[in-house]
Amino acid sequence: MAITQTGARLSSSEVAPEQPLASLADDVRTGLLSRPRWLSPKYFYDDRGSALFEAICATPEYYPSRTEAALLEAHGQEIIEHAAPDHMLELGSGSSRKTRHLLDACDALDQSCQYWPFDVSAQMMLDAGAQLVADYDWLALHALIGDYTGGLTNVPLPEDGRRLIVFLGGTLGNFEPGEARAMLEQIAGLMRGDDQLLLGVDRVKDTATLEAAYDDAEGVTADFNRNVLRVLNRELEADFPVDDYRHRALFDRDKARIEMRLGAGHAHRVTLATLDTAIDIDAGEEIVTEFSHKFTPDTLAALLESAGLAMDRHFEAEGGAYSLVLARRA
Ligand code: SAH
Ligand code: TRP
Repeated sequence: MAITQTGARLSSSEVAPEQPLASLADDVRTGLLSRPRWLSPKYFYDDRGSALFEAICATPEYYPSRTEAALLEAHGQEIIEHAAPDHMLELGSGSSRKTRHLLDACDALDQSCQYWPFDVSAQMMLDAGAQLVADYDWLALHALIGDYTGGLTNVPLPEDGRRLIVFLGGTLGNFEPGEARAMLEQIAGLMRGDDQLLLGVDRVKDTATLEAAYDDAEGVTADFNRNVLRVLNRELEADFPVDDYRHRALFDRDKARIEMRLGAGHAHRVTLATLDTAIDIDAGEEIVTEFSHKFTPDTLAALLESAGLAMDRHFEAEGGAYSLVLARRA
């Protein structure tokens, strides 16, 4: 494996998928020709998308991020004491902003721990990583660049030492239920003995709070959602009229999920030159761009159990707004 040393305590490498993954072109062709039309959410996170996601986290409506941060701050020491990690692997680490609460706890408890962030958005991860090793003088950080939907068996964690796998931000909820279970099984496959998983998921609550969190008044989330069309315009030489698409976020209580969609304002023909394809889109037709599943304590416990995991600790925000759980292999 090619390992790039960018400083004594900062290195990075690419994680190869177990099986070749569908290309952007194949994914988009399949999704856009399906009914309903859909696009894979992993394409949101180009540089602009990553910056827009950070901006979403700062909107007053998007409570999950600050709620999770408060839980990590309040319980960070208990989490680190309980898990006593030598290696912390974080899936979809993004800016690692909230992870700082865990590193602060390591600091306070003299728990020397190596940090392994894993993200598709390499630049954001490397920028964050450089800042982290500057701020924590004991920290060794190995950035893993790749797509975690390709599996975790090629993650190069050392054999020795206790592991804490971290998966925050409700990102597990962005998978369909079967995929979420498969992802947890992959995670369980990396855990041995009393290794721990720290998982953050959002909870079912009133519709207005949920829908506002995914449709902020300033329109940052709308811009983030539409950004996926900009990615396609650039990567596939497409000509989506980005500003003609309307952002929608609806809570489906039966499926316990927010559904994000983009609706075309006018009928138009989009040409995707790289795919050699043109698609006629009707006025008002919608493309599904993301699901965000919400949990109850029972559905969360059942999902963990289905993947061979059991809850060790459950930290809940006031009123059950958000859940942070520590789990181990059952
Ligand atoms: N954990 C951070 C960021 C959440 S946003 C937080 O809680 O604020 C989701 C993150 O997952 C982004 O950084 C995105 O780049 C990354 N991501 C999305 N799909 C991915 C995939 N398939 N493989 C690896 N990283 C992915
Ligand atoms: N994991 C985040 C969530 O489900 C991702 C997210 C937040 C998101 N806001 C979004 C995805 C808007 C698409 C559009 O909360």
